[in-house]
Amino acid sequence: MLGMGRLRAFLSHLLQPEGPKLSVPDPARAGNRPKSCPRLDLSGKVALVTGGSGVLGRVIARTLGTCGADVAVHYFSGRARAEEVRDDLLGLGVRACAVAADVASVDSVAAMREAIARELGPVDVLVTNAVEWNAKKTILDQSIEAFERSHRSCVLQNVIAAKAFVPSMIERHWGRIIGISSEVAMQALPATADYTSGKRGMSGVLRVLAREVGAHEITVNEVAPGWIITDQDREWANQRNPEYEERVPMKRRGFDQDVANAVAFLASDLAAFISGVYLPVCGGNVMPGI
Ligand SMILES: NC(=O)c1ccc[n+]([C@@H]2O[C@H](COP(=O)([O-])OP(=O)(O)OC[C@H]3O[C@@H](n4cnc5c(N)ncnc54)[C@H](OP(=O)(O)O)[C@@H]3O)[C@@H](O)[C@H]2O)c1
Repeated sequence: MLGMGRLRAFLSHLLQPEGPKLSVPDPARAGNRPKSCPRLDLSGKVALVTGGSGVLGRVIARTLGTCGADVAVHYFSGRARAEEVRDDLLGLGVRACAVAADVASVDSVAAMREAIARELGPVDVLVTNAVEWNAKKTILDQSIEAFERSHRSCVLQNVIAAKAFVPSMIERHWGRIIGISSEVAMQALPATADYTSGKRGMSGVLRVLAREVGAHEITVNEVAPGWIITDQDREWANQRNPEYEERVPMKRRGFDQDVANAVAFLASDLAAFISGVYLPVCGGNVMPGI
């Protein structure tokens, strides 16, 4: 039963001609305006981009640096390419270094962590982007070694990187982990089982990790690009693929910068309460079930 006072309040709430009053600041009154617009600001953070020597990794690294982060650009065999990205960043006034590692080796990743700590400090934002590619083959034709390569770079990379970098994030009660997946993980296309199962395995690791470390203000997410236009495509004048574009709701391929923007957003405080997400950047080509 409502008492008379509460009944009156309830009725007047219903009868307000302009609807119920919400307790949000009135933007028209300067005094109530938020002090600042939310900004995508990564200053004071150290980011590591694995595969920073690769075509997507270099754009992710440059973007995180442009947003204010200090950036470790990882490479495996592409030292010159990683150093070029590092030099670009240094030229922009960003603290940066190039670091080598085999992302599937515990010792090699531990050595990389120490090198980054010496140059820039402990890693706050970890982007697991490196991948070992195989030629596309059906399950019956694909070699076991190719499956192992894919699983090492997609699944084990994330386990090893978590063991290496998360303890320090826990100590500092802040962290961002962003795995680069693919729209292919959702598509189960023929001749992609090595890659699909690698990326699916990576989702398994990262989603469990999101639950295990969330209480420490560490978010764990995936960005899943579609078929992206990169510098390599620009070089090869290979930016169109009508058959693919026809299937994509936005009728085009995405850009490397689109992927990097999603990574920067998830790394920032704007995404402080987003975790466990698989974020497709593919013009609507895959829509994970809800
Ligand atoms: N490009 C696309 O359209 C697209 C679409 C969907 C998803 N993706 C995803 O985006 C990410 C980057 O792809 P990308 O197109 O930029 O490929 P990429 O240019 O071939 O780059 C791959 C990177 O992985 C590194 N790498 C390879 N083997 C390694 C190992 N054993 N240990 C450490 N690093 C190793 C390479 O290092 P070195 O070159 O220094 O040896 C390189 O930096 C991948 O996770 C991929 O699955 C890409």
